[in-house]
Amino acid sequence: MAIEVKRLTVAEARAALNALAEVLHDAVEGGDSVSFMDGFDAGDARAFYESLLPELERGTRVLLAAYVDGELVGSVQLVHAWPPNSQHRADVAKLVVHRRARGRGVGRALMEQLEEEARADGKSLLILDTVAERAADRLYGRLGWIRLGTVPDYALDPDGSLCDATFFYKHL
Ligand SMILES: CC(C)(COP(=O)(O)OP(=O)(O)OC[C@H]1O[C@@H](n2cnc3c(N)ncnc32)[C@H](O)[C@@H]1OP(=O)(O)O)[C@@H](O)C(=O)NCCC(=O)NCCS
Repeated sequence: MAIEVKRLTVAEARAALNALAEVLHDAVEGGDSVSFMDGFDAGDARAFYESLLPELERGTRVLLAAYVDGELVGSVQLVHAWPPNSQHRADVAKLVVHRRARGRGVGRALMEQLEEEARADGKSLLILDTVAERAADRLYGRLGWIRLGTVPDYALDPDGSLCDATFFYKHL
């Protein structure tokens, strides 16, 4: 199975809004804790990605999309830190793969390419947090991220139950 990961231009992201939205909507519908709550629909997901376009234009946010057989099945973002004293640092956000494409290395491919893009943008330190003891937590561990610790009751699952978050960093 060939996985292609691509850094989207603003025009490409705009053209892919529906596909990006479908992947995020699918995750929320599946109960994944990715910022949003039950009732979040495909239109909300599209509006979310649309709201990011100005940052892509400014270059302060990077959006990668993963394709299998030409179909967009996942995405991840890199958010550049804004403070002048932290230009070497960025946050990783919204790694998400459609449920039907999981377990085949798409998440890994997205994260490996994200590191390449971060290096190309001059970043040497990446930070992220994720729900503890789920697939993403294991994936980051395998990719060499350093576990800082876990904050209990950090966020909510879509159904409103509290979940713990693990914080990670990685020097590039
Ligand atoms: C986290 C997430 C992005 C991982 O995506 P993915 O494409 O399934 O990731 P991978 O395929 O690289 O790895 C997932 C699992 O498949 C396994 N795998 C990868 N390639 C495989 C292959 N070719 N054959 C068999 N298993 C494989 C991995 O070992 C891993 O196993 P594990 O879950 O037991 O640790 C996905 O589960 C997701 O979208 N989760 C919801 C959103 C979320 O929580 N995002 C994180 C926010 S920070």
